[in-house]
Amino acid sequence: MADIYQEALEFFPYTQGLRRDLHLHPELGFQEVRTAGIVARELQQLGLEVTTGIAKTGVVAMLEGAAPGPTALLRFDMDALPIQEETGAEYASLHPGVMHACGHDAHVAVGLTAARLLWKHRAELKGSIKLVFQPAEEGLGGAEAMLAAGVLENPKVDLALALHIWNEKPVGWVTAPPGPLMAGGEIFKVVVTGKGGHGALPQATVDPVIAAAHMITALQTIVARNISPLEAAVVSVCQVKAGEAFNVIPQTAEFSGTIRTFDPSVRQQVIERFEAVVKGVAQALDCQAVCEIKRLTPAVINDPALAAAVTETARTVLPDVTIVQDHRLMVSEDMAFLMEKVPGCYFLVGSANPEKGLVYGHHHPRFDIDEAALPRAAALIAAAALHLLKQ
Ligand code: NI
Repeated sequence: MADIYQEALEFFPYTQGLRRDLHLHPELGFQEVRTAGIVARELQQLGLEVTTGIAKTGVVAMLEGAAPGPTALLRFDMDALPIQEETGAEYASLHPGVMHACGHDAHVAVGLTAARLLWKHRAELKGSIKLVFQPAEEGLGGAEAMLAAGVLENPKVDLALALHIWNEKPVGWVTAPPGPLMAGGEIFKVVVTGKGGHGALPQATVDPVIAAAHMITALQTIVARNISPLEAAVVSVCQVKAGEAFNVIPQTAEFSGTIRTFDPSVRQQVIERFEAVVKGVAQALDCQAVCEIKRLTPAVINDPALAAAVTETARTVLPDVTIVQDHRLMVSEDMAFLMEKVPGCYFLVGSANPEKGLVYGHHHPRFDIDEAALPRAAALIAAAALHLLKQ
């Protein structure tokens, strides 16, 4: 297994060719028809049993090991973003206004390379690998749609792995921390209703603008005064709407925003306080308030044993690797829906290279990666799966 990185390097022209082709032809969520076609073709060439059209454009393939055992799911996302590319690269997007600005082109290429590596090593596998190519990760509900389509059944999945190429860190950097890695997100919307009227006759009105302003201020005490300073939480009001005229007190005011947390009990506490603050202020100021809190994604929480196995694999397999044990991000990722159901490990593989100017962050129009990250990512996820299915 120690030379799996060497094998991934031998596949580099294949991986790079796929990644650049996908980068030229990005497709938005649930529209990954060409991408899914390439994925299915490449997996069928290995002789794998391939199912297409799952949750519209998802592709799943089974790779059976030599001996029976658990099933490990490996997930790769396929969608691009509605961004006009400005990299000027020779493989820059041919589709105006659509770009692989998050690196999911790299994920597909890494996934197809990992499939080839695991195929070579299938005699060592005790169990099976379920390769999952998921549509629509970028806030469109791809993971939930794959779950609803039964991606964790037939055969039943025992553990799950996924990765992200990570341009905030240089090539060689890896993190697979035990416990929380990415925050869970909520979207909230509050509609405050009072009694509208003349701006110069406030005594005849119930002003929802004043009530909303007090709510927005009071909501800031949740993080400042209710949550332990040693825990992480965000409550951000990002949109406020009220009124049409300078001399009219409106009938309603509304605001919306997002909540981010890691720990389920902290999440519960934030939501309970949020509702209590909104209700309490509304009551005190004689308004009605309707509060809607919707889940965006749960937190990405790594199983400690799987995180330890991935970390150990990175140390064994990758040259010149820098492993960071404790790393957390407030961004969210829909792999969390799968990891709520089965133990999993999500890890990040550094892909920036300041010397080559490859430093733009994810979702930036000049986002591009150092492709030296590709064989590292492919070797790591394949070797981690092999390691876990040998036990
Ligand atoms: Ni992404």
